[in-house]
This record gives sequence, structure tokens and C-alpha cells, in this order.
Amino acid sequence: MYTTLLTQLDNGIFTITINRPDKLNALNSTVFNELDQALNEVASNAEIKTVIITGAGPKAFVAGADITEFGGLNKEQAMALAKRGQDVFFKIENSKKPIVAAVNGFALGGGCELAMACHFRLCSENAKFGQPEVNLGLIPGYGGTQRLTQLIGKGKSMELQMTANLVDAREALQLGLVNHVTPAENLLEKTKEILTVIQSKAPIAIGKVIECVNVAVVSDSAYTNGKSGYDKEIEAFGDCFVTEDMKEGTSAFLEKRKAEFKGR
Ligand code: COA
Repeated sequence: MYTTLLTQLDNGIFTITINRPDKLNALNSTVFNELDQALNEVASNAEIKTVIITGAGPKAFVAGADITEFGGLNKEQAMALAKRGQDVFFKIENSKKPIVAAVNGFALGGGCELAMACHFRLCSENAKFGQPEVNLGLIPGYGGTQRLTQLIGKGKSMELQMTANLVDAREALQLGLVNHVTPAENLLEKTKEILTVIQSKAPIAIGKVIECVNVAVVSDSAYTNGKSGYDKEIEAFGDCFVTEDMKEGTSAFLEKRKAEFKGR
């Protein structure tokens, strides 16, 4: 069904593998279209509870936007390219179902931006992150100037984008760019272990966590409907209160049994 992605659904965990290993999984327009479609599948398929995004092969998660598609674009076309990338990555960021990046090698340029659009990141010991666009006379265009700054702070974000220096897995962990580093062969297993824990919780509440945390780091009022993160949290707290899962969760605690969440 997809030509540049491999997908697999296993115990509620949907793994999307970007599959252009001979081009280090560079993001061309087909990958963007198919990622968009795969995200629609995530939203509409009730069997999918959580998602992993990873790259094919041992070398790269994604080595960037496909540079071969940059040739000859005028300003408007370049802006449309950035907008398309940002829209697909907003869809990841705003997914009600958790989407986690398992970074298995180079995550450069658009690859780093893709990983940062995910709700959180794990990486293998050989991973390398960076925004090397200034090497090409460019800047990040798929949200990287914003999300890198949100994740690691202004000073480090400025330095990495201005120098085009790459950071290894250890430094990525120190910077808070990734939550866990594992040997390459354990990366997917560790990611699935965390997602299995998340899948045992109330899905509506998990979706509300995503919504509220996103508002905390995004200042664009169009994105937040003019509401502060605190307002959003009050509303989301109220929404959770009237779910069956909340009644089940609190009853199970009081009855000293394990809660059985239904996503209602
Ligand atoms: N766009 C298009 N093709 C890319 C690519 C990208 N972003 N990154 C890698 N490739 C292609 C290479 O052109 C090469 O294709 P070829 O075999 O047809 O020549 C193939 O993937 C393998 O890459 P190669 O450069 O030979 O591997 P390497 O191990 O020597 O170097 C990198 C790995 C990641 C350091 C290097 O590929 C690189 O710097 N890529 C671009 C990173 C970048 O600037 N990203 C930001 C883009 S905005």
C-alpha cells in the first residue's frame, strides 16, 4: 500500500518505518504524502493505540529532506515545501495517540525535525542529531528552529543551528533531546516496553496530556485558540472527569484492583 514506508501493527503498537535506506531515508514528497496517509490511518483505526516512527537500515533514522528536490524552486515553491512539511509534522505533534521516535542512526535536518515533532524520543548508541542546513545556505524549514529551541533551550539551539555541529547519543540525552539511549538491537524493544505501559492507561486522559503539554510549549495563539496552557488544562481535566475510564480508574483504586480502561 505504501512505497516508501513499511507499517506493522502488533499488540496495538503501529510501527512506521521510513524505507529508503539507499538514500538514508531522506524525506521526499512521496514520503511526506505517505506519512500523511499513515497518520490518517493512525487516527481512524481503533486497533492502533500507539505509534513508533523509525528508519530502515542500520545507519539512518532520516538524513534530512531530500536535497535532490530542492533544485530550481522559487521562493513561493520553497515556502510551500516548508509549509507541507510543517503541516505533516503538526499532525504528528497533535495526534491524540502517542507517537514516539525510535532514532536508529542519523537524524539530520528534516530527520531531526521529524523526531522532534514526535511526543518523545529514544535513540540507539550510534545515533547522531543535527540541523546542518547552514551548510547548504539554508535554515530548518519543518519546525526545527522552534522545536529544537523548545527542547534544549535558546543558547544550545542557536549554537547547533549556527555551527551545523552534530550531537551524539550521549549528548542528546544530556540535552534532553532524547529520553533514553539503548544499544541498537534493543531500541525497538525498549520503545515497545514504554508504549505497552502507556497503553495500559486511560486513552482519553493520554490524549489530554498530549494536548495540554503541547500548549505549554507553543506560543502561537492560532494553534492554542488563544487559550493559555492553564485554561486548557482546566478544560481537559473537566473532560476527563466525565469519562467512564475516570470512574473505572478511581473505583479500581478504591477497590484495590487493576483498572480496565475502555477509551470511553
Ligand atoms: N537528500 C538526498 N539524498 C541523501 C540525503 C539527503 N538529505 N542524505 C543522504 N543522501 C543520499 C546520498 O546522496 C547517497 O546517495 P547515492 O548513493 O545515490 O550517492 C546516499 O544517500 C548515501 O549517503 P552518503 O552521503 O554516501 O553516506 P555517508 O555515510 O558518506 O554520509 C551523511 C552520511 C548523513 C553524513 C551524509 O549523507 C549527509 O551529510 N547527508 C545530508 C545531511 C543534510 O544536510 N541534511 C539536511 C538536509 S536539509
